[in-house]
Amino acid sequence: MNKQFSLKNKNIILTGAAGIIGQKLSQEFLNAGANLALLDLDSVSLTKLKSKLHSNESNYFEIYEVDLTNEIKVNKLVDIISQRFGTIDVLHNNAASKGRSTKDFLKPFEEYKLSTWNDVMDANLSSMFLMSKAVGSIMKKQNYGNIIQTASIYGVVTPDKEIYKNSYYNGLEISSPASYSVSKAGVIALTKYLASYWAKYNIRVNSISPGGIFSGQNDSFVQKYSSKVPLGRMATENDIVGAAIFLSSDASSYITGQNILVDGGFTL
Ligand SMILES: NC(=O)c1ccc[n+]([C@@H]2O[C@H](COP(=O)([O-])OP(=O)(O)OC[C@H]3O[C@@H](n4cnc5c(N)ncnc54)[C@H](O)[C@@H]3O)[C@@H](O)[C@H]2O)c1
Repeated sequence: MNKQFSLKNKNIILTGAAGIIGQKLSQEFLNAGANLALLDLDSVSLTKLKSKLHSNESNYFEIYEVDLTNEIKVNKLVDIISQRFGTIDVLHNNAASKGRSTKDFLKPFEEYKLSTWNDVMDANLSSMFLMSKAVGSIMKKQNYGNIIQTASIYGVVTPDKEIYKNSYYNGLEISSPASYSVSKAGVIALTKYLASYWAKYNIRVNSISPGGIFSGQNDSFVQKYSSKVPLGRMATENDIVGAAIFLSSDASSYITGQNILVDGGFTL
C-alpha cells in the first residue's frame, strides 16, 4: 500500500461503530494500522463487535458505550479517550438513529410528531455537534486534526417517492422522512462551516454521503432504487471503506470542506 494511504499510528474515534457501516469500517481501519476508540449506544452489538475484530500486534482498539446526545457523558468520555490514546488524529462522526420508534420515524409529514423530529435531529446532527465541539477543542490544542462525518445522498437530493411504493424493510413499509433529509443536510452544512472555522488550526473536516446500502430491503425496492443508479446497483458497506480510509489518511491532506458522494452516480 502507498504509505500516504496508511493509517499506521493514527488514533481514530469512530461513532456508530456497532452499525452496518461502522462494523465494516472498524475492521478496515484496524487493517490499515489505526488504533481505535469505538463508540456506540448499543452495548450488546458493541460487545459482539469486540469479539469479532482482529487487531495486529502493533495496534489496538477499545469499545465505549455512550449516548452521544448527552453532552455531559460525551465530554467525560472524550476526556477518558484523550488520556488513553494521547492524541486524537481522526474523529469519524458516523452514528445516526431513527429515534425511539421506527413506526413514528416513518410517519407521513402531516402526522409527524415533534418529539420524533427532535429525536432524529439529536441523534443525527446534535451528536456530531457535541463530538466535534469536544474533540475539535483537543485538535485545536494539538494544532492538527481530521474530522469526517457520515451524511447521506438525502442531504443533497430529495427522495423520489416512487422508489418507496411497495417497499418493505424488516416487514415495515418504508419511506425516507424529512427529518432524515434535514438532519443530513445539516451534517453537510456543519462540515463546511467547521472546515472553514478550524482551517487555521490545521484541522480538516469532510463528509461522506453514501447512497442506499443493501441490507435486506425487498426486491421491489432494490429494483426501483437500482434503476436510478448509473452503476445499476445499491451500495454495500464495503463501498464506503475506500472514501473513509482516503479521508482519514494523509493522501487527502489538501482536501477540506468536501462532501464525497459514494452513490454509484445516483445524484448526477
Ligand atoms: N445504511 C444506509 O443505507 C445509509 C445510507 C446513507 C447514509 N447512511 C448513514 O451512514 C451512517 C451509518 O449507517 P448504518 O447503516 O451503519 O446505520 P446503523 O443504524 O446500522 O448504525 C448506526 C449506529 O449508530 C448508533 N447510535 C444511534 N444513536 C446513537 C447515540 N445517541 N449514541 C451512540 N450511538 C448511537 C446505533 O446504535 C447504531 O449502531 C449513518 O449516519 C447513516 O445515516 C446510511
